[in-house]
Amino acid sequence: MTVAIEMGRTAAGGAATLDLEELLATRLLVQGNSGSGKSHLLRRLLEQSAPWVQQSIIDPEGDFVTLAERFGHLVIDAEAHTEQGLQLAGERARVHRVSTVLNLEGLDAEGQLRRAAAFLGGLFEVDRAHWYPMLVVVDEAQLFAPAIAGEVSDEARKLSLGAMTNLMCRGRKRGLAGVIATQRLAKLAKNVAAEASNFLMGRTFLDIDMARAADLLGMERRQAEAFRDLERGHFMALGPALSRRPLSLRVGDTETHARTAIPRLTPLPGAMLEDAHAVILAAPPPEAARPQRRAPPPPPPDLLSQLMAASPTTAESRAEALEALPSPEELAHRRARLDRILSALLADPEAGFRAIGVLYQDFLVRCRIEGLGSGAPDLNAFRRMLTRARAGISAEMAGEDIWQDVAARSAVLPEDMQGIFMMIAGAARAGLPCPSDTAIARAYGTRSAGRARRVLSYIEEQGLIVCQLDGTGRRIVTLVELAWATAPGDPNAESEVRA
Ligand SMILES: Nc1ncnc2c1ncn2[C@@H]1O[C@H](COP(=O)(O)OP(=O)(O)O)[C@@H](O)[C@H]1O
Ligand SMILES: [Mg+2]
Repeated sequence: MTVAIEMGRTAAGGAATLDLEELLATRLLVQGNSGSGKSHLLRRLLEQSAPWVQQSIIDPEGDFVTLAERFGHLVIDAEAHTEQGLQLAGERARVHRVSTVLNLEGLDAEGQLRRAAAFLGGLFEVDRAHWYPMLVVVDEAQLFAPAIAGEVSDEARKLSLGAMTNLMCRGRKRGLAGVIATQRLAKLAKNVAAEASNFLMGRTFLDIDMARAADLLGMERRQAEAFRDLERGHFMALGPALSRRPLSLRVGDTETHARTAIPRLTPLPGAMLEDAHAVILAAPPPEAARPQRRAPPPPPPDLLSQLMAASPTTAESRAEALEALPSPEELAHRRARLDRILSALLADPEAGFRAIGVLYQDFLVRCRIEGLGSGAPDLNAFRRMLTRARAGISAEMAGEDIWQDVAARSAVLPEDMQGIFMMIAGAARAGLPCPSDTAIARAYGTRSAGRARRVLSYIEEQGLIVCQLDGTGRRIVTLVELAWATAPGDPNAESEVRA
């Protein structure tokens, strides 16, 4: 069977395709400087191939978690699991053929390398009966297969480099097709890069990277100069799955977007993912029952891992055990995850205009998908979170004394206006321009700029703020008593949608 994935358009306007079957056998290396469009390209490839092949993404920045909602990938927050747990999750993902995103966001470099290595190890070492083909996409691959020792420990680097070498050099027999992207070819371990037979080269500035690219492609170095002038989203393709001779292509659009962009997503029913979560991430069976492979390093003896080790065997009972004794870090982590879910929800430009009940339902579904079902806030707590989020105040900031002070002052206002006051306070505190009428309207949940201006006047009448216009019609708002003032801002500006 031949499956041709359309990656985009050639300069001549024809379809630029990628032969998926061939890709599985010959792997792919994507290189291009930051902003050249690599992650977009990977996303296009993942979306187009999702119906055909199981996928796993090693995602250092949490860019790809949005694939979950449209394509059903299971998001694994690496931070929340031990290396042993992740190795097991990798094996189970193959056994049950579930596509996954390993979200490594929030971990330090050492933690990212160790956990990625553990998960890749699980994919690699699964029993022969489960060697079905799958794509393993590694974004920012130079982090996981660095050419030279960096700031991480030797051990972590060796584990990760070993896993990447297995993926690219020995993975084929086991059905693993490595797709790796890097912004700096010169920083990527040579043996890992050398195993790819397909290349997509994007904009490249540095001579040393250009020289490496030319070597890999078998081009004259001066021919590779052309990579310097490539526009964002434009790549030079070469390889058995792409084109026999260098072909210039522009990568097409994607259905989903990185979390910071405007998503057009509809959440899948929670039930299906919940099941996948339970199957893939259930607590490990007792040690004795598992044949020991390469001995993973013992987890650090902190409270959390002690609890994990001592816990009974179901995910629920472990969750309960943790529930009973949340450490401050645990709480902060949970708050941060809830905040992330909320900001994903608010990234929808329509979110500001939905009834709170509808937003809350959507929020609960997302919490369940993230495995936070029991830790979800009630409606009142959600209302407070929403006010804060619309005002652009993070959970962390909200804990600061000065913000407690601001919140106390805002208490004289009706609840729905408190967020507006906080929003202006936030801008003043950060020395940013005063938010425009549209921005205020959106935060207030209305499309009417007039209404936004009336809210401002009302807050001014309560003696909390003073509004002034400067010589050019830009608005400055000063907070009474706190004596913070915003920078001048155009009241009529079209505002950016806050991510
Ligand atoms: N082919 C394309 N079409 C439209 N937008 C693109 C394309 N390629 C990249 N972009 C946009 O450009 C920005 C940078 O792209 P990204 O893929 O994140 O770059 P990189 O991963 O190489 O740093 C993103 O906002 C992305 O959506
Ligand atoms: Mg990227």
